[in-house]
Amino acid sequence: MPRMNLSGASAIVTGGASGIGEASARQLAGAGARVVIADLQEQRGAAVAGELGGAFVKCDVSSADDGAAAVAAAGELGPLRVLVNSAGLGRAARTIDRNNRPMDLGVFEFVIKVNLLGSFNMLRLAAAAMAGTEPVDDDGGRGVIINMASVAAFDGQIGQAAYAASKGGIVGMTLPIARDLCACGIRVNTIAPGLIDTPIYGQGEEAEAVKAKLGRSVLFPKRLGAAEELAYMVLDLITNPYMNGEVVRVDAGVRLPPR
Ligand SMILES: NC(=O)c1ccc[n+]([C@@H]2O[C@H](COP(=O)([O-])OP(=O)(O)OC[C@H]3O[C@@H](n4cnc5c(N)ncnc54)[C@H](O)[C@@H]3O)[C@@H](O)[C@H]2O)c1
Repeated sequence: MPRMNLSGASAIVTGGASGIGEASARQLAGAGARVVIADLQEQRGAAVAGELGGAFVKCDVSSADDGAAAVAAAGELGPLRVLVNSAGLGRAARTIDRNNRPMDLGVFEFVIKVNLLGSFNMLRLAAAAMAGTEPVDDDGGRGVIINMASVAAFDGQIGQAAYAASKGGIVGMTLPIARDLCACGIRVNTIAPGLIDTPIYGQGEEAEAVKAKLGRSVLFPKRLGAAEELAYMVLDLITNPYMNGEVVRVDAGVRLPPR
């Protein structure tokens, strides 16, 4: 059985201006796809899209209109075959703080809105477009959706209630959505990254110290992962026609401790 051929297809990568999304966009373009970078970061997003011969759409993944604009832009480049949902963020806050004050509900709501609702918003819009394309293979396959959860979905740390809930939601919706979309020949897989060296940890001395400490907690190899290593898995899950409905940890064996 051949791998899925991406040449001539279009792909949307949310969060494609940075980190895992950017690395995925680069590998998708290398495999022949025309890539739409859908991100809030205009300058960086446009630069990456320009370099890859794709398009940039300023897009808040939690907005229905922005998502529709990204899907329309992809349709201009070729039949939409791929969505990589990599936009995401975290906000650390304990359920109650050291003075027993309850966490601000707005923080919880914001993280769920971007990570979980935003992923579903982009996914539903992309799936609707993919369903209208001609099948690409003998199985009747039309497209693939990759979501980015986190190992925090399984071993969330102190202060990660909102982030872990948002990523747990992505894990939980993976199989039912794969079931919803099977009749249209659309596969859905989710990756749970471990500790990956991207701008999500911030920049500067403090961020480097945090990353160095985190790296020592990894089983083997004892370092943070590179965004490219995550993107290898993105491409594998897209191009292997037999991967569907699965959640894959890419974490070098790390298990997050409580803090
Ligand atoms: N880096 C890690 O260690 C790690 C671990 C587990 C999971 N993840 C997940 O992987 C994904 C990618 O993370 P990364 O490390 O590459 O982060 P990153 O900060 O480098 O990139 C995230 C991108 O998402 C964009 N973004 C944020 N909110 C958005 C919104 N509302 N609409 C559109 N774009 C938005 C940002 O502008 C940024 O370009 C995220 O979902 C993150 O939660 C990362």
